[in-house]
Amino acid sequence: MKKLITLDYTNMSDAAVGARNGVSISALKALSDAVRKHHRNLIAMQKTGRLGFADLPFDPQPVRAVQQSARRRKGKYENLVVLGIGGSALGVTALQTALNSPLYNLDARIRHGRPRLFVLDNVDPDALDQVLSFVDPRKTLFNVITKSGSTSETMGQYLLVRKLLQDTLKGRFAQNIVCTTDAAKGDLRKLVAQDGYESFVIPENVGGRFSVLTPVGLFPAEMVGIPADRLMAGAAHVARECSSASLLKNPAYIFAACQYLAATKKGKNVAVLMPYAASLRDVADWFRQLWAESLGKRVDTAGRVVHTGQTPVKALGVTDQHSQMQLYVEGPADKVVTFLHVERFRSKLSFPRGPRGYSSLNYLGGKKVADLMEAEFQGTRMALTRSQRPNMTFSIRSVTPEAVGGLFQLFELANAMSGELYGINAFDQPGVEAGKEAAYALMGRKGYDELCRSIESAMKAKALRV
Ligand code: PA5
Repeated sequence: MKKLITLDYTNMSDAAVGARNGVSISALKALSDAVRKHHRNLIAMQKTGRLGFADLPFDPQPVRAVQQSARRRKGKYENLVVLGIGGSALGVTALQTALNSPLYNLDARIRHGRPRLFVLDNVDPDALDQVLSFVDPRKTLFNVITKSGSTSETMGQYLLVRKLLQDTLKGRFAQNIVCTTDAAKGDLRKLVAQDGYESFVIPENVGGRFSVLTPVGLFPAEMVGIPADRLMAGAAHVARECSSASLLKNPAYIFAACQYLAATKKGKNVAVLMPYAASLRDVADWFRQLWAESLGKRVDTAGRVVHTGQTPVKALGVTDQHSQMQLYVEGPADKVVTFLHVERFRSKLSFPRGPRGYSSLNYLGGKKVADLMEAEFQGTRMALTRSQRPNMTFSIRSVTPEAVGGLFQLFELANAMSGELYGINAFDQPGVEAGKEAAYALMGRKGYDELCRSIESAMKAKALRV
């Protein structure tokens, strides 16, 4: 496979953006030995089965399983509704918007008999009601995705869907549900056994936000015509290309090290990911969860209070040039902006020549729309660099399944190395669990009475009405 992704980190350097904001090459080199040691740790974790995501691209079995199921189900449904949240939803959305047309759900001609896709990702009652009233349950496949098999939002969505299907399909309701969950743990796995749903496995050693390249993302992808094997080929390529222990030879590690040095030495507490391709907007949304939940930690692995983590922000070029860029160029110098740059768009659309004598039209006439996009990207990158704001660019040739699979793998590897650099556990999420448990308590789940009482007494809100 040709090179898929290029990282340009020139504008992270002190030479490009000044010593106050930039990372010096000597600082990067000084981190090399630590990176080498952390790399050995990660390899040891992988060998002992504690770095599950790193093995995923090399396991053909899940791809075969989702392909078989999707083939069997082809042409049978008008809709695929994904029930899930967080890591069980964001990757599916990112895949769909990256690799299918924004009009996919609206235009049957581009679906070629494949189902529309809805990802619920919330328990907003209005949104749930609207989607569930729109779809015909008899012609809809529901994919329940939850690693723990117990998340309240997903289990709540499941209850609604199960009733809807039981009311319409009666004894055959299980046919329209596919579950993706842990092999053994959790209530959803028990329900699979009880009701006889088809199911896929999320490996025990792959956390929610690292699970897009398991059946979590792969099954919906196949159902909507995105080839799972091509996603995995891209991920495998990146895994191989980013296997060097040498910092300066490993793009995933350079990204991690630049972010780490910028955050800890230069006060860059915000990590903006800004694709210059509308199709990659939700890849930035997926990245946001990965970076936030993995690196935002109160204590390090030795139990010391550290409060680590950059705040990840998603922005979209060029849209956010007219919303966020003023702040990024002139506001607080607390950000690293990472661009996702696409060299070739699928469309060859050009601007027609308009009426003569209009300076705001005439320079555009005859040029490709992609050239304007490129000029906007180059201009923004230059403006940021000139105002001494550190930035990096990942370039991909075009938005293909291989490139998207590769980006997922690259950011996950970078994330694992970042966890090592900060000395924290990048694979847990105690802050999220605390919120989940509080919701269980307030909703009256068995075993949470005491937590419920303590929350209620702390909830005496001070509120002002206007
Ligand atoms: O990364 C994680 O583990 C979380 O963000 C989960 O993806 C999210 O909380 C959903 O959990 P589950 O898949 O268990 O329903």
